[in-house]
Amino acid sequence: MRTLILMGSPRKKGHTMQLTEYLVQRLSGEVEILPLYNRKDIEPCRDCRYCFTHPACCMEDAMQEIYQKLEKADRILLAAPVYFYNLPGSMKAVLDRLQVYWAAKIRGDKGQALKKGGMILVGGAPESPKQFEGTIQTIQYMLDDLDAVCVGAVTMGGSDKKGLEDRPDVKEKLEELAQALEH
Ligand SMILES: Cc1cc2nc3c(=O)[nH]c(=O)nc-3n(C[C@H](O)[C@H](O)[C@H](O)COP(=O)(O)O)c2cc1C
Repeated sequence: MRTLILMGSPRKKGHTMQLTEYLVQRLSGEVEILPLYNRKDIEPCRDCRYCFTHPACCMEDAMQEIYQKLEKADRILLAAPVYFYNLPGSMKAVLDRLQVYWAAKIRGDKGQALKKGGMILVGGAPESPKQFEGTIQTIQYMLDDLDAVCVGAVTMGGSDKKGLEDRPDVKEKLEELAQALEH
């Protein structure tokens, strides 16, 4: 079982990483946390539309290796802080390169959703009902394009004041997410 976690936080000991590590400790198999913040080795999508007719991206950069990792993974997760109520911009620039998977709908070779997916999102502002709404929707569409069924979204607002150590409710949700990914 291979799990790939796309990490959008620049802070190696930040809240997003803390939640991610808590989850990883509860997952079996091979797990890779892949940093996607400010990747200078990955160009943004140019909308050249090569992928409308080919099941590949024509841009030869570090993304090619990530495509292989995504295709081999059984479970795909996105872990990120929200910046202005969405994914950090530099992470989103990398994720726009997933257009090649969306384009399967145009090519007519969209696969079945056989992978499991999930997400971990953190926000510094006090928790509010809409805090993660837009980001969750964006990630759900991405997971769908990756043929992954989203089995859980764990969110933690209020990180400017409290961390995971003060949030037994978030720990419980991470444990539930691990269970959903495992079974
Ligand atoms: C540029 C920027 C924008 C942010 N925008 C939001 C926001 O819209 N909503 C929110 O709840 N927190 C926002 N935050 C706070 C972060 O989500 C919060 O500090 C989070 O814990 C950072 O994740 P990390 O600890 O993994 O680095 C923002 C932080 C930065 C740096």
